[in-house]
Amino acid sequence: MFLKKSYISLLILSSFIIFIKCRKKEDINSSFTTTPYNLSIPENFPEFEAPNDNPLTVEGVKLGRHLFWETKLSGNNLMSCGTCHSPQSAFSDANQYSQGINGDIGKRNSMVLQNLAWANDFFWDGRVISLEEQILMPVMDSTEMDETWSHFFEEIKYDNQYRKLFYDAFQTTEPDSTHAAKAIAQFLRTMISGNSKYDRVLNDPSVSFTPMENAGFDSFNSLTGGDCFHCHGGILGTDFSYKNNGLDENPVDTGRGLVSGNSNDYYKFKVPSIRNIEYSAPYMHDGRFQTLDQVIHFYSVGVHSNSPNVDPLMEFSQQGGVQLNPNEREELKAFLLTLSDSAFINNPNFSNPH
Ligand code: HEC
Ligand code: HEC
Repeated sequence: MFLKKSYISLLILSSFIIFIKCRKKEDINSSFTTTPYNLSIPENFPEFEAPNDNPLTVEGVKLGRHLFWETKLSGNNLMSCGTCHSPQSAFSDANQYSQGINGDIGKRNSMVLQNLAWANDFFWDGRVISLEEQILMPVMDSTEMDETWSHFFEEIKYDNQYRKLFYDAFQTTEPDSTHAAKAIAQFLRTMISGNSKYDRVLNDPSVSFTPMENAGFDSFNSLTGGDCFHCHGGILGTDFSYKNNGLDENPVDTGRGLVSGNSNDYYKFKVPSIRNIEYSAPYMHDGRFQTLDQVIHFYSVGVHSNSPNVDPLMEFSQQGGVQLNPNEREELKAFLLTLSDSAFINNPNFSNPH
C-alpha cells in the first residue's frame, strides 16, 4: 500500500516535470531566431552558396570565431586552431612543420586559410570533402591538439559565455562536435581575401600596376614567360586541381595518390592559391622554400622533368624550367607581391576574441 502510494505520487510529480519541460521547450522554440550573415563577396569572385544544412548566421560566425581561437580545444589548453593558422602568416604557420601539443612534428606545412568558401576538398591531398568534417580532425589528432570533443564540452559545460554562444547559434543547451564544426566552418567561410592591389587594379581604373609589376603580370600569364597561369590563374589564384609541379626526382610524400588509390595521382598536391603569398612562407607542401626568390628560382631552373607524374603543363620541365633571367624573376616577384591583402590578415573580425 505504502509502495503504491509513493508510486502514484512519483507519477504525478514526474508528469508535472515533463509538463514544465515541454512548456519551456515551446517557449524556447517560439522565441528563437538567428540573423542571416551578409557575406560581402568581392567583385569578379564566383557566387557563393552555403551548404543547405549550415547557412551563415551572425551568431554562428561569432561562435565559430571563439572556437577557432579556443585553447581549451587542445589537450593541454595551450593550442588553438590559430596557433598553426596565424593571421600574420595569412592564417598558416611560419614554421616549416607545426608542432603538436605533445611535441610531435607534423609532416606537412600548415595551409593558408582564405577563400575556403569556394574550395570543395581540403588538405594538401584533398582527403576530406567537407569543411565541417575537416574541422573535427585537428582536435582529435594525437599529433596536433590531442583532445576529445566530449572532454572539451565537459570543460565548457558551466561556462556561461559558451552556453549563450551555442544557444544563440543553434538553440541548444547540449551542444556537440557537430555544432562546433558547423560554427567554425561558418567562420572560415567569412575569411575572404579579395582586396589586394591586384584586385584594385582590376576593379578601379584609377589604380594601376608599376611597369615592373605589369611586366611580371604579363610573364605570369605568358607561355614564353613564367607560364604560371595554367595552374595558379583565375581570380582565386588556383584551379583547385592536384598536380605534381616537379619538385623532386624521387618524391617521398605520396600526396593525392594515397587518397584516390589511382597510380596517376601519386605525388600530386593541391595547387595552392598564390594570393597573400608574401605572408605565407615557407612554401610547398613540405615548406621546403623559405623565400619567393627560391620558389621562382625553382620554377626557372630547378624543375625535375623525370619526377613521376610531373604535370604536362610544366611545359618547360625538359629544360629544367621556364629559364627566367634575374631581371624577369624580379618582375615576376613584383607581380606576386601585388596579391598581398593586408586588410585581410589584419581584419579585426578574424582576430582572437578571447
Ligand atoms: C598543430 C598545427 C595545426 C592545428 C592546431 C590546426 N591545424 Fe589546420 N592544418 C595544419 C596542417 C599541417 C594542415 C595541412 C595538413 C595536410 O595537408 O596533411 C592544415 C590544414 C587545414 C585546412 C585545409 C585548408 C585547405 O585549403 O585545404 C583547414 C580548413 C584547417 N587546417 C583548419 C583548421 C582548424 C579549423 C583548426 C582548429 C580546429 C586547425 N586547422 C588546427 C595544421 C594545424
Ligand atoms: C602545372 C601546374 C603549376 C604551374 C604551371 C605552376 N605551379 Fe606553382 N604550384 C603548383 C603546385 C601543385 C604546387 C604545390 C606543390 C607541392 O607543394 O608539392 C605549387 C606551389 C606554388 C607555390 C607555393 C605556395 C604555397 O602556399 O606553399 C608558389 C608560390 C607557386 N606555386 C608559384 C608559382 C609560380 C610563380 C609559377 C610560374 C612560374 C607557378 N607556380 C607555376 C602547380 C603549378
